[in-house]
Amino acid sequence: MKKKIALISGITGQDGSYLAELLLKKNYLVHGIIRKSSSFNTARIDHLYIDPHYKTNFFLHYGDLTDSNTIYNLIAQIRPNEIYNLGAQSHVGVSFENPEYTAEVTGLGTLRILEAIRFLKLKNIKFYQASTSELFGKKFEKNFFDESSSFYPKSPYGVSKLFSHWITKVYRESYGIFASTGILFNHESPRRGETFVTRKITRFLARKFYGLDKKLFLGNLYAKRDWGHAKDYVEMQWKILQQKKPDDFIISTGKSYSVKQFVSEACRQIGFKIIWQGKGLNEKAFIVNNKKKENFICIDKKYFRPLEIDYLKGNSKKAFKQLKFKPKYNFQALINDMLLHDLELARKESLIKNNVK
Ligand code: NAP
Ligand code: GDD
Repeated sequence: MKKKIALISGITGQDGSYLAELLLKKNYLVHGIIRKSSSFNTARIDHLYIDPHYKTNFFLHYGDLTDSNTIYNLIAQIRPNEIYNLGAQSHVGVSFENPEYTAEVTGLGTLRILEAIRFLKLKNIKFYQASTSELFGKKFEKNFFDESSSFYPKSPYGVSKLFSHWITKVYRESYGIFASTGILFNHESPRRGETFVTRKITRFLARKFYGLDKKLFLGNLYAKRDWGHAKDYVEMQWKILQQKKPDDFIISTGKSYSVKQFVSEACRQIGFKIIWQGKGLNEKAFIVNNKKKENFICIDKKYFRPLEIDYLKGNSKKAFKQLKFKPKYNFQALINDMLLHDLELARKESLIKNNVK
């Protein structure tokens, strides 16, 4: 039987790397778009790479979502059955600093792919757009967000994603393209970028455990997020494209925790006894050890955003039913997976440091 061909933008990212693994296991030929960089940016997918002079199902191509010609040429040449558009400037905080670039990549990048599909008249192609809970921003009638909730993005990133979300629907309805979206709530893993809050916390705590770091500076401790595991969520990206009809799906756990709760749970798991003291910018966390208190977490206002989404909780009833979505990781298991990984990294780092001394 002929193998299915997938093209992934953002293959070097957290989700791209897990999705590539999943599709290779399903016997796909997987093509990925990577950006030229002066240093290697392929750490998350290096284990999948085989020199194309030998037999392989995994192929990488240089390209960029800002470069229409390359996107068009790659799609024309590869003729994929499925395209997963995961590429994005995906950091909400950074999008306030680089708004125009974020709109170019995270917004217009999607249009460039859809236009290529339209021009090439690739009728049988299926397109997945990585939509986000950052489309929502305001609690309206319910205390959760589902497929019928109103959008209210609160960052250049959110607005760029809203453009991508709607343009995907417009191309579905205008040209009959099989174009679907997954509105995914926050999902994390040991492969999460280190400037996102969960990984920043687990990485710091693991390094602190081995005496490699002293203090962590955070922003808004009271923002609440619905945190799932990236491994569970990429499986849904694939399932969304296996449906008979293109559609939109919320993927979330249905539980919401604050950043502060994430810190407290991670400290509990690693065995740090902590107390919180103070308020606002003066709020601090201390490790308590034999009646001694050591301050190890402080607030730095530079990590606050000009505008913030205070609360996110999803309702994935539709995905539970239609996609048979059943997340394997809850909040505690997610933190455990991240901590175990980061403790091992820190252990190796401390061995190297001590050997060098
Ligand atoms: P990520 O780790 O930040 O990965 C983003 C990917 O996009 C990386 O491979 C990056 O390449 C690539 N990229 C950035 N700019 C590009 C450009 N100009 N041209 C081509 N590729 C570019 O993000 P993620 O967490 O895996 O998320 C995957 C997608 O889902 C993103 O679109 C994100 O916005 C969306 N999403 C994520 C979450 C979440 O909680 N993780 C939730 C909802 C939606 P480099 O490695 O070279 O930087
Ligand atoms: N990054 C970061 N760093 N965030 C902090 C910090 C800090 O030091 N301190 C507090 N926070 C708060 C942020 O203000 C936000 O409310 C929350 O922690 C989560 O921040 P991030 O981990 O950066 O993720 P995000 O929710 O802004 O965005 C992620 O999830 C979206 C889905 O809801 C990204 O992956 C987006 O690409 C994704 O669409």
